[in-house]
This record gives sequence, structure tokens and C-alpha cells, in this order.
Amino acid sequence: MHAIKCGSPSSNIYSHTNTSRKTIQHTHTHTFSHTVVEIRVERENLKSVSMAETGVFEEIIEGDVFKYYTDGEWKKSTSGKSVAIINPTTRTTQYKVQACTQEEVNKVIESSKIAQRQWAKTPLWKRAELLHKAAAILKEHKAPIAECLVKEIAKPAKDSVTEVVRSGDLISYCAEEGVRILGEGKFLVSDSFPGNERTKYCLTSKIPLGVVLAIPPFNYPVNLAVSKIGPALIAGNSLVLKPPTQGAVACLHMVQCFHLAGFPTGLISCVTGKGSEIGDFLTMHPGVNCISFTGGDTGIAISKKAGMVPLQMELGGKDACIVLEDADLDLVAANIIKGGFSYSGQRCTAVKVVLVMESVADALVEKVNAKVAKLKVGPPEEDCDITPVVSESSANFIEGLAKDAKTKGATFCQEYRREGNLIWPLLLDNVRPDMRIAWEEPFGPIVPVIRINSVEEGIHHCNASNFGLQGCVFTKDINKAILISDAMETGTVQINSAPARGPDHFPFQGLKDSGIGSQGITNSINMMTKIKSTVINLPTPSYTMG
Ligand code: G3P
Repeated sequence: MHAIKCGSPSSNIYSHTNTSRKTIQHTHTHTFSHTVVEIRVERENLKSVSMAETGVFEEIIEGDVFKYYTDGEWKKSTSGKSVAIINPTTRTTQYKVQACTQEEVNKVIESSKIAQRQWAKTPLWKRAELLHKAAAILKEHKAPIAECLVKEIAKPAKDSVTEVVRSGDLISYCAEEGVRILGEGKFLVSDSFPGNERTKYCLTSKIPLGVVLAIPPFNYPVNLAVSKIGPALIAGNSLVLKPPTQGAVACLHMVQCFHLAGFPTGLISCVTGKGSEIGDFLTMHPGVNCISFTGGDTGIAISKKAGMVPLQMELGGKDACIVLEDADLDLVAANIIKGGFSYSGQRCTAVKVVLVMESVADALVEKVNAKVAKLKVGPPEEDCDITPVVSESSANFIEGLAKDAKTKGATFCQEYRREGNLIWPLLLDNVRPDMRIAWEEPFGPIVPVIRINSVEEGIHHCNASNFGLQGCVFTKDINKAILISDAMETGTVQINSAPARGPDHFPFQGLKDSGIGSQGITNSINMMTKIKSTVINLPTPSYTMG
């Protein structure tokens, strides 16, 4: 698969042959769209040793199966089974991880409990020191970890490196923020409440919850893992990580960086396996004291089953981009491209519906189309803008949304094209509320445009969604922008920029089905702690300075 400019008429996606590797070629006929597209997928059957499996990472794999991590050691599951990780680009097995058993999960949580008790007694400065060390080791090994991301989730090469570096920075920030906010408590006196004398002094501090279960999603397996691990550890918790299947190997490498930093035995564990075997078992485990999950609908099911433990959930969005008549259309177009198409739209915070005033819609669509034509489509190794989506089922789902829009009369600004899991970027104009794409989250490179006749219409569409993660508004009138932001039922509104979670210390939260609680480093640290009070009762009232 070679990189191709989107609008290039001479693009030839079928010309690649690699004679140095044994390949089997499969030909599919793909009929949706105006043309019949022939798809040829190369399947690589020879496994090559990559830098991700050598050096300091040698001990995390045996044969061709990566091990799981518990009690400070890399282990093979007694199940004797493994889970295959399919490379979205080649659509062949890239890696294998252990299929852990429920019995192994029990042992992992038991070790976590024991390790946490000791960790809670470890001075804050020492916890911070270890986190800084892990951050440095992670950044030092950004290349092999990024290589896993490229192979497992088809994230473009440069973005994969950025994810690892950003994760190192996030860990360091957790350490710095943690020593400050956990180093302070509150002192309250009783006589501020009616009827009380100053006979009670209340001292509060933040204490850890215990065992935190972290479940990150495939699209940021490293970054959204450390956004849970960093706050959990600095706050004195132990951590059990259940990585997504796609992204598990990058997670295992990241865990090895924590191992190399020298964290106490049992404090961090990483279990891999089938969701059907250990998913519910983990989330309903009585030994788990907190769950931090990022992903899709599964989060709703988890929240119903989890019981009385604090939950932090980020479950996706249908982020609206409201464009007013006075907006800088070049800025809007650039942000629709960045917001809608980066990592092929596989971001919770992607621009997922554009709501543009009719009077400027033609001009905006033209500008966006010009930029879509320049997007590079192809494999992540070549750092293309649009790379294959994570799985065949995801590609099929995206195709279903496109088909539905086609049937119902949306304007296809580009021809619909798909090769395997690779879907060409597509702007759909004249989308109407009866189309699925107006409401559903494609998690793919398709951006719908709904033309509106009033700002109220745009706000109404945004608020009619079950989701409420982020939204954005483009206008030069800051007063209008503030009013619109207040009217939008979303956790965050960006003014004159596309939605985004980062920088990672900003609060990040969704309303409605988009989530529970707030993330961002400070909020996550607070969420992973409980307030403990000690009240000193005096025999007689005492006032400062007599
Ligand atoms: O999809 C995960 C969500 O947290 C998005 O993050 O950094 O792409 O805005 P980001």
C-alpha cells in the first residue's frame, strides 16, 4: 500500500508488490459508490523481529507471544492460549498476547492490594521521583513503542511518536501536580456554622482509594493508559491495567518502562485477554476500588454493573462544529480537517458534525474540499494523514453510515472509496437529521455537513444528541461565542478551534452519555483519592490570639 494524494486522478493503489516477502494476494470486489473498486490486500506471512522486541523489551516476549505483567515479573498465562492482534493495514496477525484466566486476575488483584498498603506509606516525594524516572525511560524508548502503535492501531508514524512523548510529559506533570495538591489539606473550625463555638478543629487530607482498574481505548492506548496510571500512583493507589486488544503490545512496552524505573513489586500489573473471559470479571471484582475507563458503549454497561466504586468514564462524542456567518472560513476549514480527519477521525473529540449557516456553507465546503484533496491516504509507516481504520468491523460500520446517507440523498463531495480497512476521507454535504450520520459517531474519516438557517438550529441539533463531550463555535464575536458556549450541553466548548482533550492538564469531561466525572491531571488525582478528616475536640472554645 502506497501513500496517495486524495484527489489525484492517477493514484494507483494496486501497484505495490514486495518480492522480498512471501505474500498471498486476496482480491475483493467492492461495489458501493459510483464505481466498482477492486481491492487487493497483501498478506504478510513472514514475521520479522522488530526493535520493539529487542533490548530492554526482550524479556516481555517468549516465542511469538507477549507475556503479562504481575508481581514485578513477566509471565505466561496458564491458559496456554493467546489473543491475536490484527494489524489494520495488512489485516494479518501482527502480535499475540496472553489470554489470562480469571484465576490469574484474582492473584493479580490480591498482589495489588498487598503492594498498595506499602505504597501508601511511601513518601510523596519518592513516588514522584519514581514517576519522573518512568517518564524519562518511556521517552527514551519512544521509537519501539511508537512502532507498536503503527503496527497495532495504524496510527501515523509521527503521531505515534508524539503520543509516547506526550505520555512521558503527562507522567511528569502528574508527579509535579501530585506533590503539590496531595501535600496540602484543609483546616476547618467549627464556629463558622450556626450554633457552634470554636471547640472543633477539622483536619482533612486526601487518601488513596486502593486498587485502581485502568481500561484505556485503542486510539490512545499509551496516553490514555498513563492518564490513569500517573494520577493513581502519585495518589498512593496500586494499578491494574487492562489494555485494549489493539494497542495491548504498546501498553506492555509502556509497562516495562515502569518496571525498569523500579516501582515496588505488585504495584503495577497488566493483564491481557479476552473481554468475554476477564472483562466483566475485572470490572465487577470486589477487590477493585475505582475504575477509570475510556471507550465506547461498553462503559455504560460497566457503570451499571460496577457497584459502589468511584467511576471515571469517557465514552465518546458527537462533537458539533457551529459556524457563524462572520467566521474566518480559512480557519474553520483548517480546523475541520485537523478536527475531523486526524487519525482518520478515530478520536472521541473529532469534529463529527459541522453545522454551518447556509449563507457561508458553499464557500466553506469548497475550502474544506480543497484541503481534503491534499490529504495523503495510505499506510501509517509512510506517515499518511488517512490510514486504515482499526478493524474490518469498524470499516463496515463506517461504510454503513455512508450508504445510509447516500440512500437518503446526501451530497458526496468525494467519491466513496475503500480498500480493506482504508477509507478515503469524505465530506458529506446537505446532510439532514433523518440520516444516521447526523447522530451516530462514525469513528472514521467521514464528516457530515448540515446547513442551518439560525444559530438556534445549530444549538438545538447539538443538544439533541445523546452525547455531550465537546463542541466548537467559530465566530469573530466573542460575546456571541460565550452565549453559544453556555447554551451547548457539552463538557467543553472550544471557541475558534477544533475540539481536543489536550493539553493534558486541562479538565476533560463529557455530559450525558459521554461520560462520568472529569479528567485532566488535577481532576484525576482528586478523583482517585478520598477525603479523610480528623476532628480535634476541645473541652472549651479556643479562639486564635485569645
Ligand atoms: O478519543 C480519545 C479522546 O480523549 C481524544 O483525545 O487528544 O485526540 O483530543 P484528543
